[in-house]
Amino acid sequence: MAKPKLSSTESRAPKNDFHYGSQISNLPKLSSIILTQEFELLPNITEVFELEFAYYEYQSLLEDEILRRGAFFKSVNGVPTYHYLICSNNSHLLWEGRSELTKSYFKEGNFSTGYATHGLFPYRGKFHPQLIKGILNVLKIQPGEIVLDPMCGSGTLNIEASLIGVESIGIDKSPFCVLMSKVKHLSLKSDAVQITCALKRMNENYETLMQCEKLPKEFFSCEEQNLPEGITLLAFLDAMGYSRRCSRSLNTLFPNVLKRYAGQISSFIQIRDKLNLEFGNARFEIGDARNLPLENNSIDAVITSPPYSFAIDYAENDKPQLEYLGCDVDELREEMIGLKGKNKKEKLSNYFEDIEKTVCEMNRVLKQNKYAIIIIGSNDVQTGGIRLENKVEEIALKKGFLLDQKIVKPIKGIQNTMKDEYILFFRKK
Ligand SMILES: C[S@@+](CC[C@H](N)C(=O)[O-])C[C@H]1O[C@@H](n2cnc3c(N)ncnc32)[C@H](O)[C@@H]1O
Repeated sequence: MAKPKLSSTESRAPKNDFHYGSQISNLPKLSSIILTQEFELLPNITEVFELEFAYYEYQSLLEDEILRRGAFFKSVNGVPTYHYLICSNNSHLLWEGRSELTKSYFKEGNFSTGYATHGLFPYRGKFHPQLIKGILNVLKIQPGEIVLDPMCGSGTLNIEASLIGVESIGIDKSPFCVLMSKVKHLSLKSDAVQITCALKRMNENYETLMQCEKLPKEFFSCEEQNLPEGITLLAFLDAMGYSRRCSRSLNTLFPNVLKRYAGQISSFIQIRDKLNLEFGNARFEIGDARNLPLENNSIDAVITSPPYSFAIDYAENDKPQLEYLGCDVDELREEMIGLKGKNKKEKLSNYFEDIEKTVCEMNRVLKQNKYAIIIIGSNDVQTGGIRLENKVEEIALKKGFLLDQKIVKPIKGIQNTMKDEYILFFRKK
């Protein structure tokens, strides 16, 4: 496919500073883009925060940039954006044969959740990738800069950064998260031969994974040359968790999951090659957000979401996979933010202490005047009414940050006890 051509107003100058007003005061300005015919928003944009991000993208990016990296637009002057094309090329295998809840998560969130390789392992508590792309755009992060998620989970930030050619680092205390992030990230660059190879060796690899006491190196190392094994291992671990949740056998689930992965990666490869995407590199490490293995003033932006106190027990949640990978889950729990402590009071106090350490670390590794974006929500029932976003704000201001913007994002779904989360834009003084 030819690169999209720009028609008009290429010279529309984006604003330089990110000192936006409050959400409410921006609302009248939003109508200015909604009413233009040049910029068409994605069809499922309904929330105020999405409109607000669309407006920020419109302000921060040139038209060519909106086409290549915009997250909230369908087209510019009738030319479809890369985001729209990538999301539209998604494999139907992503939702076929899955629970109604999962189906609606992916189908309704077509433009925000499962595109590229994000759907490979729908990690609990993961970012909405579209939002992360929007944040990278608002901050105007460019190739050559380095972004960091010190609690990277399934590597959403790293995938998004790569998609726009930006370098990134992902750190997580959980070895399972690091493995998952590596596989999802490497799969962006995979080729048809590797996918065919994973499918061809499916049965043989399944036997190996079922029998082994210690994983062979090619499965665990997850380097580029071992990508078929990496994809197979992730599909195996995905099926393992699923089989425990729905009491179905692993050997019937595993082939379906692997085929779904293969279908999804293949769909992405097609559109990637048409668009000639060039990826940014990513580096992943098992590490502690409270003591980052990084130099002072070396990072251009941090975008992260810490555990929302003990709302999700990540050690318990990922126990089968962690144990399979040979990890001592009880030991890990002691190191995980939000999980340490005998009772609620002790857990909360440890949580805030750990958040303070991570905020200090973010401040230390960030370059001057650069941003740390923290996304956080509060489960009032669990925290006894304490709003985590307020506490995080208080800690960050004490530790050398300024708060430039605070955006509310509603959390949908009746099953969620949390109704909204906050996107906090902190700038290093
Ligand atoms: C809300 S999740 C992050 C999800 C991620 N943003 C994504 O898109 O998948 C929080 C993550 O913090 C990690 N974590 C908890 N304690 C940690 C620590 N001390 N150091 C680094 N990571 C930690 C957990 O393993 C979990 O993956």
